[in-house]
Amino acid sequence: MRFPDRLAADANAIQHRLTAALDGRADEPVLHAMRYALNGGKRLRGFLVLESTRLHDLPAETALAAAAAVEALHAYSLVHDDLPCMDDDDLRRGQPTVHKAWDEATAVLAGDALQTLAFELLCDPALGSAEVRIGLVHGLAKASGAEGMVLGQALDMAAEMSPTPLDLDQVIRLQAGKTGALIQFSAEAGAIIAGADRKPLQGYARALGLAFQIADDILDVKGDPAKAGKRLGKDEAAGKATFVSLLGLQGAEARAAELIAQAEACLSPYGAKAATLIAAARFVIARES
Ligand code: IPE
Ligand code: IPE
Ligand code: MG
Ligand code: MG
Ligand code: MG
Repeated sequence: MRFPDRLAADANAIQHRLTAALDGRADEPVLHAMRYALNGGKRLRGFLVLESTRLHDLPAETALAAAAAVEALHAYSLVHDDLPCMDDDDLRRGQPTVHKAWDEATAVLAGDALQTLAFELLCDPALGSAEVRIGLVHGLAKASGAEGMVLGQALDMAAEMSPTPLDLDQVIRLQAGKTGALIQFSAEAGAIIAGADRKPLQGYARALGLAFQIADDILDVKGDPAKAGKRLGKDEAAGKATFVSLLGLQGAEARAAELIAQAEACLSPYGAKAATLIAAARFVIARES
């Protein structure tokens, strides 16, 4: 299957798993806000979970709960990222942000519950033995907490307050937490589920995660807001050091292309089986949303 069809099919399967996870729960605003926040998105992280599982000759259905889990965790991070005390955004995935559609308290609580939903999903016995599930819980906790996404977000907030812009090494460290850690966990999930060596996927995901953030910074400068579904031009307005402010637009594009070549090279042990992951890496730097 070609990559765009594979991504669309996987996104559909992940959406069904997320819908099923919240089916029959209390008819309360916080549940409606959670469902709303889970809608849309490219599902790139969930796709990485499923595709890294296929890479190890396991059926993608085995990993569906883990793909839904990373997307729930990611949705929580976006709901909180958009809050007035963070990026103060009113548009996400082409819709009003959760705190605009409801209120701030509902957005905080929906984010909290999306985070715990992620760990609930990782308890699904379909994922494998208790050992496999503990490995996934541990991996997601490390990637999303104070050594991962939350650390990156905290460094991002601190940088906005600081009078001196970050240098390239500092922006790379920030990125490794903010977007890198969850992308890395997603790509390694298949190896965790299969009990296989994580090294090749680790190298792939590290380069991919960095290229992903460079592409996000490029989109912020030259993207089309109608396609991106979020406000753009915000990084420069906030005086933030980004890959574009540090490397220039062309320099950032060249760096992203180099990283994708690196990501591809890391997958050589898998041969032709890695073709879809390689196509995904190319998509990451060519995307418009
Ligand atoms: C956006 O992530 C926020 C960042 C981590 C830079 P995505 O671009 O993957 O957003 P969705 O999930 O497709 O909406
Ligand atoms: C968001 O980064 C990262 C997380 C939610 C962890 P950004 O603030 O750059 O993402 P956008 O540009 O709002 O999507
Ligand atoms: Mg932010
Ligand atoms: Mg933001
Ligand atoms: Mg951004």
